[in-house]
Amino acid sequence: MTNGERLAVDVAGLHFQNPIVLASGTAGYGVELADVIDLDTVGGLTTKAVSVEPRAGNPAPRVAELDEGMINSVGLANPGLERVKSTYVPWLATHLPRTRKLVNVVGNVVEDYAQVVAELDASAESIGRGAIDGFELNVSCPNVKAGGLEFGADSAALQRLIRLARAETSRPLFVKLSPTLPDIGAVAKCAVDAGADGLTLVNTLPGLAIDVERRRPVLGFGSGGVSGPGLLPVGVLATWRVSRAVDAPLIGVGGVTSATDALQYIIAGASLVGIGTAAMRDPRAPTRIVRELDAWCARHGVRSLGDLVGTLEWRPR
Ligand code: SIN
Repeated sequence: MTNGERLAVDVAGLHFQNPIVLASGTAGYGVELADVIDLDTVGGLTTKAVSVEPRAGNPAPRVAELDEGMINSVGLANPGLERVKSTYVPWLATHLPRTRKLVNVVGNVVEDYAQVVAELDASAESIGRGAIDGFELNVSCPNVKAGGLEFGADSAALQRLIRLARAETSRPLFVKLSPTLPDIGAVAKCAVDAGADGLTLVNTLPGLAIDVERRRPVLGFGSGGVSGPGLLPVGVLATWRVSRAVDAPLIGVGGVTSATDALQYIIAGASLVGIGTAAMRDPRAPTRIVRELDAWCARHGVRSLGDLVGTLEWRPR
């Protein structure tokens, strides 16, 4: 049996050749990594954020390495909707036929999300349907003063944002949530009730790294989002909680560096697994994890990885 058969999953009407997805921020808009790895071997690619207007992002330094992992405060830097339509959508339309492409969407106000979704959807329809397979609405960035965590933390705003975006596309909508939400299952349910097809769990965890010599934050913005191996159990718990709250496909993200990490998300309830920090450290990590997953399935006689989704044996007291 080949990896094409046992690792393939169908999620929200999309066929993924395997469950490994490059998390937003790790692969730009695809073209940036095209000469580094064969992106057509991963299941999916989530682009860097797209906002209506270009965003310069936060002052440098934007990224700092931690003992295990990293902290970033990029500030949703991106070239803006017009440039993405003119440059990146055409590239995506003619490349990576086997990899599903999700576009990460951000906004200053809830209406921005709908505008980005509407214009990119129309652009993909006119240039090439395969340019964009779905959208990831980012309501969980800890690194901006507006248009970050607050939409995910306000159920009314979140539902309005999703309904407006839903009206603009028939492509799948995933909503990326923060691990800081006190009741992430309830927020996920709100999102699905408003029209989300799935959830991405989780974004980075807010943190502060201090340069003790200067007694100042290491990052130019001050605080940032922590990612890497320490985020793994946080994301796995969030995934498990959300899997009990909604009947919708989940993308588990946070701290994955190996197939066994990815399997934790899958067993907790994720159909897809995002690779973030590990891919920034080593762009070949996602393809390695695909191979490791296939080998694990072969060793364990697993005929379809999808059979493992949500199979955690644990009933909390
Ligand atoms: C950033 O651009 O600051 C990171 C993206 C995110 O946290 O969603």
